[in-house]
Amino acid sequence: MGKLTVVSPTEAWLEGGRVAPRWRRKGIATALIAHRIAYARDRGFRVLRFSTASDNTPIHRAARHFGFTRVGALSRREATARPGQLPVRATPAQERAVLQRVGRLVQLGHGWEWREITSRDVRSAIARSRVFVSGKGVGAAAILGDRYEKTLMIAAIGGPVAPLTELLRALRAEARRRELDDVSFYVSNAEDRRAARAAGYTRPWSGEVYLFEKRFTRRAG
Ligand SMILES: CC(C)(COP(=O)(O)OP(=O)(O)OC[C@H]1O[C@@H](n2cnc3c(N)ncnc32)[C@H](O)[C@@H]1OP(=O)(O)O)[C@@H](O)C(=O)NCCC(=O)NCCS
Repeated sequence: MGKLTVVSPTEAWLEGGRVAPRWRRKGIATALIAHRIAYARDRGFRVLRFSTASDNTPIHRAARHFGFTRVGALSRREATARPGQLPVRATPAQERAVLQRVGRLVQLGHGWEWREITSRDVRSAIARSRVFVSGKGVGAAAILGDRYEKTLMIAAIGGPVAPLTELLRALRAEARRRELDDVSFYVSNAEDRRAARAAGYTRPWSGEVYLFEKRFTRRAG
């Protein structure tokens, strides 16, 4: 099986690739990917993405074969809830600054699925009190996702190390205020990693999530 999920009017997502063990290495996954690429192109999607574990060699090979580019290597960080200074909520006037601070993508749900973040996402998250900021003039920003079990999920985050560290610490206090166990998010660059370490976040597993992307150019006519 293989699923194509529509994550926005212009972005499609591949997931659920599974081939029964005795049918593996016969090109079935490759054929299912080829089918979905053709479908996404025909339906006019601008971009097709998927994520996979950093050790999933068959899928990396298939990605290369079909001209996907690796656009991210994401690694999870977690920290327990603990008392401390609570984070500051963003105001509607900070919408643009928040959008500039957080990374390009927002995580959907608690799985390995992302799509591009829009100003509308930020606006509605601020209206629902789900955006926190720190530092002068929105030094760093974080957008909460839906709570998952007893974890405070951060769906998008970003900013320079100092304000980001402060924000990550405050989010641990926010988790505590909500009587949750911990905070969880994905780091995608060196600044995120440094801030996470400084704020006491650790890596629950050593692997990474690779994010692949294939852009379609519009056909003439
Ligand atoms: C990953 C999976 C879907 C691949 O299915 P498949 O039908 O065996 O894949 P294909 O036969 O189309 O092979 C794809 C490529 O990977 C290579 N490959 C397949 N199995 C491999 C293995 N165990 N080690 C190294 N390379 C492998 C193939 O040779 C092929 O590369 P090529 O085109 O350069 O020759 C299958 O192994 C599976 O169901 N795994 C468990 C679930 C999973 O990991 N799903 C993907 C989540 S993103």
